Amino acid sequence: MGRMDGKVAFITGAARGQGRAHALRLAGEGADVIVTDLADRVETVSYPPATPEELAETVKEVEALGRRVAHFTADVRDFDALKAGLDSAVAELGGLDVLVANAGIINDVRPSWELDEANWQTMIDINLTGVWHATKAAVPHLIERGPGSSVILISSTAGLRGIPNIAHYNAAKHGVLGLARTLANELAPHRIRVNSVHPTNVRTAMIDNEFSAKIYRPDLEHPTFEDALPALAKINMWDVPYLEVEDVANAVLFLACEESRYITGAALPVDLGMSMKYSGA
Ligand SMILES: NC(=O)c1ccc[n+]([C@@H]2O[C@H](COP(=O)([O-])OP(=O)(O)OC[C@H]3O[C@@H](n4cnc5c(N)ncnc54)[C@H](O)[C@@H]3O)[C@@H](O)[C@H]2O)c1
Repeated sequence: MGRMDGKVAFITGAARGQGRAHALRLAGEGADVIVTDLADRVETVSYPPATPEELAETVKEVEALGRRVAHFTADVRDFDALKAGLDSAVAELGGLDVLVANAGIINDVRPSWELDEANWQTMIDINLTGVWHATKAAVPHLIERGPGSSVILISSTAGLRGIPNIAHYNAAKHGVLGLARTLANELAPHRIRVNSVHPTNVRTAMIDNEFSAKIYRPDLEHPTFEDALPALAKINMWDVPYLEVEDVANAVLFLACEESRYITGAALPVDLGMSMKYSGA
C-alpha cells in the first residue's frame, strides 16, 4: 500500500532538481504523474538550463518505479500551452488529484533599485505568474475530481523574509504565498487543500553554480559552491548549509497525501530554522 495509491499528480519544473524529486517521491508512493518543464534556456538566467534529456530521464525513472507518466514541454509563462498539455495528459491518465507548482528561476542579484527591468519582469512572469498559470490550468480538473485534492505551491524562505539583493525573487515568492492563501479560501468549499512550501537553500543546479556562489563570496573572482558553504550554513539556525531535494520532496508528499487531510492555508518552512533564526545579541 502506497500513500499515493490511485492518485495522479502534476509537477511543473520536473526535468531536474526538486521537481524531479517530487515526481519520484510521489510515484514511489503509488501516484501516476504528469511532468512538464521548459527544458530550454530562459533569457536573463546565467546558470545552465535543464534539457529535454533531463526531462526524459525523469520520465524513465518514474517508469522504473512501475508508475504511469505523461510528459510535455511548455513554458509556464504560456498559459495556453500549459493548459493544452495538461488537458491532454489528464485525459490520458484519467484525472488529477495533486498539483505541485515548482518551476522557477533566479536571475539577478543586486539592490532592488538597481535591478534591471528585464530581469525583474522575467522573474515575476515565471516565479509568480507561471505558478498562477499552473493553478489556473489545474484547478478545474481538481474540482472535477472532488474532495481530497491537494495544491502545493513551492515558494521559498524568500517568500517569508526580505533577503537583501533579490527583491524580485522575494516579491514573486511572497506573491506565491498570497496566491496559496487566497486559493485555500476559494477551494475550501470543494474540500481541496492548498498549502505553500518554503525551503531554505537546496543543493540543485539553481544554487550549485558560480553565479549563486558569488552571492555569498563576492570577494572571490570565480567562487565554487564549496567556497560558499560556510556562508550558506550561517543563514540557517542549524550549522548545516543546505537541504537535499529529498528533504523537500518528503514535505511535498506529506501535503499531497491523506495524512495532512485537515491542513490547508499553511505555509510550511522546510528550512533548518532559517525563517525563525534569532540574529540578535
Ligand atoms: N535551490 C534552492 O536553493 C531553492 C530554495 C528555495 C526554493 N527554491 C525553489 O524551488 C523550485 C525548484 O528549483 P530547483 O532548486 O529545483 O532549481 P532547478 O533549476 O534545478 O529546477 C527548476 C526547474 O524549473 C524549470 N523552469 C524554469 N523556468 C521555467 C519556465 N518558464 N517554464 C517551465 N519550466 C521552467 C527549469 O527548466 C528547471 O528544470 C523553484 O521554484 C525555486 O525557486 C529553490
